[in-house]
Amino acid sequence: MALFIVFEGGEGCGKSTQTRFLSQRLSRAGFHTVLTREPGGTKLGERVRRCLKQNDGTRISPLAELLLIEAARAQLVSEVIRPALDAGQIVICDRFTPSTLVYQGYGRGLDMNTLRAINDAATDGLSADLVVLLDIPVEAGLGRKKGKDKDRFESESLDFHRRVRRGYLEMARTDPKKWLVVDGRLPREAIERKIWERVSVLLRRESNG
Ligand code: TMP
Repeated sequence: MALFIVFEGGEGCGKSTQTRFLSQRLSRAGFHTVLTREPGGTKLGERVRRCLKQNDGTRISPLAELLLIEAARAQLVSEVIRPALDAGQIVICDRFTPSTLVYQGYGRGLDMNTLRAINDAATDGLSADLVVLLDIPVEAGLGRKKGKDKDRFESESLDFHRRVRRGYLEMARTDPKKWLVVDGRLPREAIERKIWERVSVLLRRESNG
């Protein structure tokens, strides 16, 4: 059963843990599941990821940042996501096109219509069946990163991260059928349960045709 599930959220929201959990649970239930991430997920994409996250003082303009992300995305869609969906597999992706709308749009101030057009070109119009947003107040999320070296995105201002969060919540509000918003401060098991409930509905709907 082809299904495309995307996880989104600000820094420190707990996406990686939850994507791993869901992927394991689906695999145990007998579904062929592919877990990947953006930027990254391919050899090229992981190289781009290192360039983007590295906090070594290299200046990257907002447009250059966007195009690097979209290059990695085009590679990931053509090399991994599309073939898996065509083979009837479930794909879970840690971030996808919504990240661009909130980070490069709400965050960096790039034009939203331009972002939508480039997202569309890079993905050939692919969009998620379900977007899980792990919502967490900016200070709480960044607080979880304390003591670790901050990457280029984590080093942005609180204001930048607040715009990102606002962007996510606005997008989720306009498309509640596709978006599931879960409070990222809940205990891990409670978050897992809420996500599994929603995914089960989707699985039932898909298997009924
Ligand atoms: P993460 O996987 O640890 O969340 O790191 C990925 C970083 O890349 C995160 O800070 C958000 C950023 N990013 C964008 O700015 N735009 C995008 O389209 C994507 C996919 C990620």
